[in-house]
Amino acid sequence: MSQGNVTIAPADGRLGILIPGMGAVASTFIAGVEAVKHGLGAPIGSLTQLGTIRLGKRTEGRTPLIREFVPLTPLECLSFGTWDIFEDNAFEAASRASVLEAPLLERLKAPLSAIKPMKAVFDHDYVRKIDGPNVKGGKTKMENAEALIEDIQDFKRNNQCNRLVMIWCGSTEVFHRPAPVHASIQSFEEGLGKNDPDIAPSQIYAYAALKSGVPFANGAPNLTTDVPAMVQLARQNGVPICGKDFKTGQTYMKTLLAPGFKARMLGVRGWFSTNILGNRDGEVLEDPGSFKTKEETKLSVLEQILQPDLYPQLYKDLYHAVRINYYPPRGDAKEGWDNIDIFGWLGYPMQIKIDFLCRDSILAAPLVLDLVLFLDLAQRAGLKGIQEWLSFYFKGPMTAEGLYPEHDIFIQLMKLKNTLRWMQGEDLITHLGLEYYD
Ligand SMILES: NC(=O)c1ccc[n+]([C@@H]2O[C@H](COP(=O)([O-])OP(=O)(O)OC[C@H]3O[C@@H](n4cnc5c(N)ncnc54)[C@H](O)[C@@H]3O)[C@@H](O)[C@H]2O)c1
Repeated sequence: MSQGNVTIAPADGRLGILIPGMGAVASTFIAGVEAVKHGLGAPIGSLTQLGTIRLGKRTEGRTPLIREFVPLTPLECLSFGTWDIFEDNAFEAASRASVLEAPLLERLKAPLSAIKPMKAVFDHDYVRKIDGPNVKGGKTKMENAEALIEDIQDFKRNNQCNRLVMIWCGSTEVFHRPAPVHASIQSFEEGLGKNDPDIAPSQIYAYAALKSGVPFANGAPNLTTDVPAMVQLARQNGVPICGKDFKTGQTYMKTLLAPGFKARMLGVRGWFSTNILGNRDGEVLEDPGSFKTKEETKLSVLEQILQPDLYPQLYKDLYHAVRINYYPPRGDAKEGWDNIDIFGWLGYPMQIKIDFLCRDSILAAPLVLDLVLFLDLAQRAGLKGIQEWLSFYFKGPMTAEGLYPEHDIFIQLMKLKNTLRWMQGEDLITHLGLEYYD
């Protein structure tokens, strides 16, 4: 199919979704897609399934569904493959996660039970709170990478997939910074052979995906593809990548509110955010190493949106703190509190309190669906490397070197939709109306 700006290959045949980490998010996503396919639920929260896009002038009245405007793979053509350190199949994993109700899962038991996790590449030094039996035993990280590449090929063949996409839904790894081993493809490959301790499991999956020409998205705050070796490999092999850390509960709220305060030139003196969370993710985040990784993406958002350098009077002294506490009784039903101290005209103070009783995986599942469908679209459109137009979905969006990430959700949405318009050769929408002029 030839379009105004790019040629988009059709979404023919099956798309395989490969997921390292079959916990609460992945099992809620897979079960949700099966539920929608069986007419047992609606894909609420998914832009690709429910969203529309305005085209041309408002007078033209053209507002198709996004999935009819760009060629996306239909849900009926998705297959799922996973890796996990635990042997639970998707039915058992979803039951254990207790996000979706048992009667619904019972009705989906057959397709879910058929999804059994492949053996994981795991390193206890990177996720300290859990351990499981279903792991690969390669002597070197390179051997494990090669085993993953074989898994990818086997999956594609056995499931008769035309294309694949990989999305990390595994646990949050401990905080680590880019090291010399991440500087180039060559140093990374040497490091794999020498078991370099600075190579995390998530990076071995990403390497296997990119080597296989499979697009990769990072749903956790891990370093993973945020290093030159991975960005180079993605560009070299013509593969799109994006990340990181799904923007769901509290940070989603922050990126809704903060642009509003700034738009009205209201000051912010303090923003204190705290959460209680009782699922396995919460347990992993109890480890200070994993929490530090999460804290970094959560904290970066406000600074970027509020631009204290441009507006020192309003935001220079902002005190921002984020806490997460593991509290088992709540399971996946997280509660996030925010106390925001703002100030207005003549500096008079005001307060806002938010108590968001949310469901973590219910918010994350539609983002997984949109990301895999859009990444596959990006690959069929010949886009490669970092996909900034997918920043909309992330707490810590990946950007080209030297650029700052865009966190304002409304700018992110405009960028996403304009990218779709650009792909299809439609005019970009600037919201500039000159009707008052003539
Ligand atoms: N739910 C949300 O709203 C949300 C938002 C942003 C980010 N995230 C991130 O998404 C990820 C998944 O969240 P979750 O709630 O499903 O967590 P979870 O703990 O339920 O699931 C993670 C799974 O990953 C597995 N795992 C860990 N290391 C692995 C490896 N090396 N290979 C294969 N499997 C591995 C674990 O065994 C577990 O089953 C976490 O990193 C979380 O921080 C979630």
